Amino acid sequence: MPITISQLLAWKSEGRAIAALTATEYATAKIMDKAGIDLILVGDSLGMVALGYKNTLPLTLNEIIHHTKAVGRGISNALLVVDLPFLTYQISYEQAIASAGRVLKETDAQAVKIEGGYPDLVKTIEKLTARGIPVMGHIGLTPQSVHQTGYRRQGNEPSGAEKIFMQAKDIAEAGAFAIVLEHIPSQLAQEISQTIAIPTIGIGAGSGCDGQILVTHDLLGLSEWQPAFVKKYADLQTVITDAVSSYCKDVRDRSFP
Ligand code: KIV
Repeated sequence: MPITISQLLAWKSEGRAIAALTATEYATAKIMDKAGIDLILVGDSLGMVALGYKNTLPLTLNEIIHHTKAVGRGISNALLVVDLPFLTYQISYEQAIASAGRVLKETDAQAVKIEGGYPDLVKTIEKLTARGIPVMGHIGLTPQSVHQTGYRRQGNEPSGAEKIFMQAKDIAEAGAFAIVLEHIPSQLAQEISQTIAIPTIGIGAGSGCDGQILVTHDLLGLSEWQPAFVKKYADLQTVITDAVSSYCKDVRDRSFP
């Protein structure tokens, strides 16, 4: 049965944890969907892991739509959410509606995710949800602000923690259906999860969230570098290196074909 947004909300009240991962293309999305993942995010991390950009900022709306179309073709059950790239929603409410509208019209995605919790972005969430566009929030470490914050954990000081807590409440009240909490103290993530009515999806935010998400390239050991909070469930870099070297050797010594 395809997973819906109301299913995620029901799971929060039942205490059933939500398992989410990112995807960038058809083949792995299909495998992940069959393996039982609940939610697939075409995150703007695709700019780094699939397109080789230095950070998430250069990614365009056309690029993420192109990849989301491929991911969508591989999915039968998981809920599909897409990141709006840097400066495709921050300029004006009209721009945010147009960008989110393109994503929903041109792909199989059911929702968009936007980063940040400042009042105008909370208002953006209100404007999008009022137009029938489901939104997932994303606060704490927000990689689109890398030039301001780096990739450091956020909310370590009481004032920073208070700000993140208030942003989570505001985003939930603005109508978001879920919120990503990235790289914040686990105690803070747990307090937010126990306070707001919508599911929290943590990444580097401890076990007290309503669900977890990781970048699939990190989980599978395909990235050159992973944050310390990542658990590597496979080492595909070694698997691929061994397979390709064996193939090269077999071709060169004519043992294949
Ligand atoms: O872009 C991304 O992959 C994300 C996840 C890390 C939550 O936003």
